[in-house]
Amino acid sequence: MTSLFTQYFRKVPVAFILAFFLVLMMSITLKAQNKPKEETIKINEDCLKCHGQSKYKYNNPESGSEVTKRMYLETIINRTEFYESNHKTFKCTDCHSADYDSFPHPGRLRMESKYACIDCHGGDEAYAKFKFEEIETEFQSSVHSTKHSDDFNCWMCHNPHTYKINARSEEKIRDIVAYDNAICLNCHADITKYQMLTDKVNPNILQKHEWLPNQALHFKNVRCIECHARTNDSILVAHNIQPKSKAVRRCVECHSTNSILMATLYKYKVQEERSKAGFYNGVIMNEGYVIGANRNYYLGLISLIMFGCVAFGIAIHATLRIIKRKK
Ligand code: HEC
Ligand code: HEC
Ligand code: HEC
Ligand code: HEC
Ligand code: HEC
Ligand code: HEC
Ligand code: HEC
Repeated sequence: MTSLFTQYFRKVPVAFILAFFLVLMMSITLKAQNKPKEETIKINEDCLKCHGQSKYKYNNPESGSEVTKRMYLETIINRTEFYESNHKTFKCTDCHSADYDSFPHPGRLRMESKYACIDCHGGDEAYAKFKFEEIETEFQSSVHSTKHSDDFNCWMCHNPHTYKINARSEEKIRDIVAYDNAICLNCHADITKYQMLTDKVNPNILQKHEWLPNQALHFKNVRCIECHARTNDSILVAHNIQPKSKAVRRCVECHSTNSILMATLYKYKVQEERSKAGFYNGVIMNEGYVIGANRNYYLGLISLIMFGCVAFGIAIHATLRIIKRKK
């Protein structure tokens, strides 16, 4: 009996250690899959030796000497950001023509047609959770697309060399807000980029939102899309940007118990949290206090408990008195 027992228990740590190493190995290989290969990094240097910084060199066959020139601002690619992006495992030439290996680049390459997101992600099971097709439809009915059709495409907001998912993976709400708002401000706070698309004068964002009290605080805590995009339950990030006349202006849309933020900014966390703890307003409690949005539930609960305690105390007190009096 005892020997069977000790035998059994001796095996448990061994099994544990084996399982531990198995999990460790699996997580290492899974991680490795998502890292750019050494070889890819080396091949990309053929492009990044010029496109990776503000200066580039080439041999001028006319003069036979090496020339150093300044790179155009819009053709500079930041290595760190690229290798942290969603498409970090890519070779430049997975998306661009292999003929870019010669310099000067052949002029016809300017006409090179670029892939759209849907070309690669459409109908792919592995990315089903992102709902690319639905996002595409939503985007097509947004102001940007209806007013500028093909001039405005997904790459305008999703920089091909830096875009990475945030709302789904980032823990801190404020970081998500900062990342997502920077996407909009890239044009809405930049005259040249905005004017590349339209002759309209770029409205001053700060001035146009003067009606919002604590504007700076709001812009740090909510995204532009909270007020400007129509929410869609089945996709995580709303893509249907509405004309300005439809923007959210009423304070209670957020500052109330059924805050729209539950269906937008806090959506992913709410889903996660609810499956974990069954709490609905937990996210807001952890991340900050949105006036009105969480007041009722928690204060209500606390005052109920306090009321219960007081009532209980009085009851005990009263019974003790009655018992004493009877004696
Ligand atoms: C010797 C430096 C050099 C190398 C190496 C180089 N490029 Fe370029 N590239 C440039 C310069 C300068 C421009 C901007 C002028 C032009 O368009 O030719 C440019 C422009 C581009 C453009 C924009 C073309 C357009 O639409 O106007 C793309 C895309 C591009 N390069 C991709 C690549 C890729 C991919 C590689 C690697 C396979 C690469 N380049 C290697 C210097 C270089
Ligand atoms: C996931 C696909 C993808 C990958 C990977 C990629 N590019 Fe691009 N690249 C694009 C697209 C799409 C555009 C056009 C963007 C636009 O029209 O706004 C572009 C534009 C460019 C431009 C022109 C500048 C501009 O913004 O118009 C250069 C230069 C360039 N890429 C170089 C590179 C280099 C170098 C690499 C590798 C480090 C690389 N690209 C990797 C898709 C990609
Ligand atoms: C040339 C094909 C191609 C194009 C074009 C392309 N993607 Fe991807 N994308 C991929 C592949 C392949 C991966 C997986 C990369 C990996 O796991 O290393 C990926 C990964 C992703 C991911 C998932 C990242 C993750 O961690 O789960 C997102 C989100 C994404 N792409 C969005 C986009 C968007 C948005 C566009 C257009 C603006 C786009 N992609 C264009 C091929 C592409
Ligand atoms: C007006 C700007 C804008 C345009 C245009 C745009 N997006 Fe987005 N998209 C965003 C923002 C902002 C996010 C949130 C990024 C984050 O925090 O992860 C996002 C997120 C995404 C995500 C990740 C959502 C998730 O579930 O994690 C996908 C996939 C995506 N966009 C696809 C597309 C496709 C496909 C197009 C073109 C049909 C497109 N987007 C056009 C702004 C835009
Ligand atoms: C590539 C540049 C660019 C980006 C990125 C961009 N926008 Fe725009 N946006 C424009 C331009 C240009 C217009 C003007 C369209 C027109 O009226 O011709 C516009 C119009 C708008 C309008 C409509 C205003 C009206 O007159 O009704 C809203 C709202 C808006 N954008 C919000 C956003 C939000 C939110 C984001 C980020 C998710 C964003 N934009 C990202 C360029 C951009
Ligand atoms: C709290 C809600 C809210 C937030 C957050 C918000 N907006 Fe607005 N925005 C509005 C409302 C409401 C209007 C309409 C104002 C009017 O009609 O004068 C507006 C107007 C605009 C306009 C049109 C200006 C014009 O008159 O042509 C643009 C562009 C715009 N917002 C972009 C943004 C961007 C970019 C962000 C993020 C940095 C943002 N908004 C954040 C509510 C918001
Ligand atoms: C899109 C959602 C949204 C809308 C619309 C909105 N707010 Fe807010 N508001 C927030 C969030 C989120 C915070 C930040 C809470 C925090 O401190 O973490 C905030 C903060 C505030 C604060 C500051 C509280 C403090 O801690 O100092 C005031 C005051 C405020 N809002 C008033 C308003 C008023 C008045 C309106 C209508 C004109 C309005 N808000 C519209 C989401 C919104």
